[in-house]
Amino acid sequence: KRRRLMAPDIAARKGGEPIVALTAYHAHTAAIADNHCDFLLVGDSLGMVMHGYETTVPVPLELMIMHGQAVVRGSKKALVVVDMPFGTYEESPSVAFRNAAKVMKETDCGAVKLEGGRRMAETIRFLVDRGIPVMAHIGLTPQSVNVLGGFKTQGRSVDDWQAIEDDARLVAEAGAFAVVLEAMTAPLAERITDAIPIPTVGIGASPGCDGQILVMEDMLGLSPNVPKFVKKFGAIGAAIDRAIASYAEEVRARTFPAPEHVYNLKSPETEAPVD
Ligand code: KIV
Ligand code: NA
Repeated sequence: KRRRLMAPDIAARKGGEPIVALTAYHAHTAAIADNHCDFLLVGDSLGMVMHGYETTVPVPLELMIMHGQAVVRGSKKALVVVDMPFGTYEESPSVAFRNAAKVMKETDCGAVKLEGGRRMAETIRFLVDRGIPVMAHIGLTPQSVNVLGGFKTQGRSVDDWQAIEDDARLVAEAGAFAVVLEAMTAPLAERITDAIPIPTVGIGASPGCDGQILVMEDMLGLSPNVPKFVKKFGAIGAAIDRAIASYAEEVRARTFPAPEHVYNLKSPETEAPVD
């Protein structure tokens, strides 16, 4: 039996075969993605995708823990990374450690992810030194939407590049085992990938990153509105609509349930029950 991948296994993939990752929020889809992915991210995007929030800002720690537990139960091989939600890690390294340790103890995940470059470097070092592998996340950091004024592509102007590249170097130096590059221009993502010793995982970045991640519901074609960088590899929303329409039609026509779906009395004259 192959053991579950751990943070150092992902770190060792720098410059090698591309790292494949998706978000996962629930046990059955985690089990399917586990057959194909190196790591599964229980992203705080679950607040928007599963719970209808407009941003990730309101997501509570307990929600991350419940979905984290589901994904760990549903998977066997992939590293499971759980996002630290807004307000649970920014204040100080010790607050971050307390909450990240709770996530690891209660979910049995293999790493946490947090947003921020240089401003989080001290915290990343504090957590890693105390046994918590950290994936960093720079470029567009959606938890800062209220400061940024929207979900905006980063590094459009070359003048912005140095600050973002410095963020990447500093999280790597602080001990992050990988870094997500979200919604940034492709040449900047490539430059960062060349400049730092840890894997870059792109989302709306560049095929030159060391790996790629997407929100599963977006790439499956279930989410109604998706950013430009999402390719829809499936049409699950349309498939669900067709299935539910057929169900509704058959219930209304009384053709469902059919004889094979109903239980009969147990007697010598009737068939044995289906159970
Ligand atoms: O929450 C999330 O889904 C993420 C990925 C998009 C990287 O942080
Ligand atoms: Na996230």
